Amino acid sequence: MSVVHTDFGPGDLATAADPYGRLREERAKGPVLRSQNAWIVLGRIEAETVLRSPAARSGFIGELYRDLLPPGAARDEMAARLNFLDPPDHGRVRALVAKAFTPRRISELRPFIESTCRRLLDPLAERESVNLLAEFAHEVPALTISELLGVPPRDRARLTELSEEVAGLLSPGGLNPEGLERAVDAAEQMHAYLRGLIEQRRRQPSDDLISALLAAREGDTTLSEAEMLSLCATLYSAGHRTTRDLFTNGLTALLPEPRLIERILDGSLPAAHVTEEFLRFETPTHYAARMLAEPLDVGGTTIPPGEPIMLALAAANRDADVYSEADRFDPDRWATDPAPPPPLSFVFGLHFCLGASLARLELEVMLHTLLDRFPMVQMLDSPQRLRWHHSGLFRRLEELRVRPRP
Ligand code: HEM
Repeated sequence: MSVVHTDFGPGDLATAADPYGRLREERAKGPVLRSQNAWIVLGRIEAETVLRSPAARSGFIGELYRDLLPPGAARDEMAARLNFLDPPDHGRVRALVAKAFTPRRISELRPFIESTCRRLLDPLAERESVNLLAEFAHEVPALTISELLGVPPRDRARLTELSEEVAGLLSPGGLNPEGLERAVDAAEQMHAYLRGLIEQRRRQPSDDLISALLAAREGDTTLSEAEMLSLCATLYSAGHRTTRDLFTNGLTALLPEPRLIERILDGSLPAAHVTEEFLRFETPTHYAARMLAEPLDVGGTTIPPGEPIMLALAAANRDADVYSEADRFDPDRWATDPAPPPPLSFVFGLHFCLGASLARLELEVMLHTLLDRFPMVQMLDSPQRLRWHHSGLFRRLEELRVRPRP
């Protein structure tokens, strides 16, 4: 099949008035396109083919950071980041992490998440206007990941701020000179803090994740100091921003639909179907990148090894060949039998999101607690007036102003 060329690049989404419209235009050209610098995969089936291929690699991203960043904490963190590791290192680290990051440890967080949600929502009852993103959606996952890791309450806000700065490195725009300097500096501070905490837990283990990661062992293998640091910093960043943004992005589709809210409250619409539709309809992570170790047939196009591939997760999740009325927010699509294929928002394959079950738990508890406490909650901005930010890679709201109504 002949290769379809495009002048589109992922960075274009940063300035597109309607990123989904822009992705739709590209998808109409074909599921697999060739741009100047990369392959762009927009089809749902084709993106899954790449993600599940044993030839798919991510290590080149770590290499890029190794070249771009000055020696120090930021470079160490990005080069050893779990989602930028290839086999066999990836499998070794992930197997050790799996011993500590267990389903049981995650489900035991439920009471903490529930009480945190209630504590944050209670004082909002009398307010006319609340930025739900800053005051609720940001706080719940940030506090939860801190609780999981065992970061003392007094240090949680500072660590969250530092991790926001470091996360700038993940977006193409984050590498301008000022952003770079701030991120590099924040990474040094973050690692200095985490090094102290890890050392403390080494001397005096507790029942938190850091202690469990230190104890994780496979034969003679344990996580190295550099792997521990990169992992803890990655968990901090991956563990709060995506969950916050998925929740608020998704609410912009749900809150204008009072009938759906009534059905969540009377139990006829499961929260799990709503969060699955949040993941499909408004995922915050619009791309994942891969490179192949061998040629691969992707929907009739052969992608050669050694060339960057941008998997447009946001386009795949709205692929009209797979999802009926793909641009409509419809949680009931998850009640059909058979259900449609799951969204790609947590990817598939080796790098399947480690925190997917924690994110699902947080989202469901956040949704239930918010609606139970404020069943008449209203969005104060019309969908046209919402202020979105797109880094080229991540889509998120600047704020989400609501009027809580008991
Ligand atoms: C709605 C929330 C979330 C979304 C949309 C999300 C999305 C993703 C995506 C797309 C990847 C794959 C990245 C790639 O292949 O390059 C990923 C991997 C990862 N996620 Fe998440 N994530 C979420 C929540 C979380 C949470 C709560 C945690 C941790 C507590 C977490 C930790 C990780 C880690 C460690 C990886 C790397 C896994 C590996 O490479 O083996 N994520 N996530």
